[in-house]
Amino acid sequence: MRKVLVTGGAGYIGSSLVPLLLKKGFSVTILDDLSYGDYGIRKHLSKIDLIEGDVGDLELLKKSAIGSDSVVHLAGTSGDPSCDLDPKKCAQDNYESTKNIVKICKEFGISRLAFASSCSVYGAQDGMVDEDSKPNPLTLYARTKLDSEDDVLSLEGGCALRLSTLFGASGRTRCDLVVNLLTCHAFQNGKVMLFGGDQWRPLLDVKDAARAFFMAITLDKNKVNGVFNVGSTAQNLKVKQIAYLLGEEIEGVDINIHPVDRDARSYKVSFEKIKKNWNYESRYSIPDGIKEIKRCLKDGSIKNWKDPIYSTRGRIL
Ligand SMILES: NC(=O)c1ccc[n+]([C@@H]2O[C@H](COP(=O)([O-])OP(=O)(O)OC[C@H]3O[C@@H](n4cnc5c(N)ncnc54)[C@H](O)[C@@H]3O)[C@@H](O)[C@H]2O)c1
Repeated sequence: MRKVLVTGGAGYIGSSLVPLLLKKGFSVTILDDLSYGDYGIRKHLSKIDLIEGDVGDLELLKKSAIGSDSVVHLAGTSGDPSCDLDPKKCAQDNYESTKNIVKICKEFGISRLAFASSCSVYGAQDGMVDEDSKPNPLTLYARTKLDSEDDVLSLEGGCALRLSTLFGASGRTRCDLVVNLLTCHAFQNGKVMLFGGDQWRPLLDVKDAARAFFMAITLDKNKVNGVFNVGSTAQNLKVKQIAYLLGEEIEGVDINIHPVDRDARSYKVSFEKIKKNWNYESRYSIPDGIKEIKRCLKDGSIKNWKDPIYSTRGRIL
């Protein structure tokens, strides 16, 4: 039986990936500091090894990796606003810890490592970017992700997945990401306020992201060693287009666009490499994600979307 260590496995992506790994017959160990608790993976607890602790603790990391043949590295401080709150922790969580994981993989003979990088590394760019484009990291978060990629790629089966901005529900749904956040505002208040709205964002459902991590540790090594943008070329949208899609799913929503754009990041990304090499395509659309979040708000599976458990920055504050 294949054994995989998932760092940050109790989080948004982790709580979609873990059930998939279990379904495919993997033995799963999670190392997570449980900053949001274990509720995202609670129903799987009897089937996994859960180790509570900091991924920056080298000894604990070694203990967690014993017997694994693959690592999926998701733990870290996610997003620009969260990293800016505590830059030292961000550098430790996102960069130093990744370096340690690569070191341990080499020491333990673990050749498969899938790392959660981000399309944020592209920063602000004109035109469509792909994996050969020069990155333009505008924030500490993006810089830590980009710097980590080199370490990850030094492993024979190392794979850096530059994720789109995710949406949709998982065991631990995040309500601080653009599609989910706008849906919450629209559903609860009947209106959304955008700043600028012309920024391009590539978007992807969290379950599609989880499937990409699964592929990264199960496809042939020679197919995965490298950097891959993860998303769908057709799901590059301007933020204001997301708001218009919301208007189609939530009746009567009032869309206000403030002319000042507070976020300089804007990138339109090509996902042809992953499509061509892995035959990877997204299965869920943005309207699917909006409907799903709306359903969670309606049936109470998301109780109070403003609660810090649904937001990385909220949790840190
Ligand atoms: N969600 C997105 O849109 C997105 C996009 C691009 C990249 N990413 C990257 O994917 C990864 C996972 O993102 P997510 O959305 O699931 O985030 P998340 O915050 O929901 O999950 C991260 C998990 O890691 C844990 N964690 C955080 N710091 C830790 C530490 N020092 N030690 C141990 N555990 C720790 C948290 O408790 C949480 O369970 C992150 O590295 C993030 O930067 C996410």
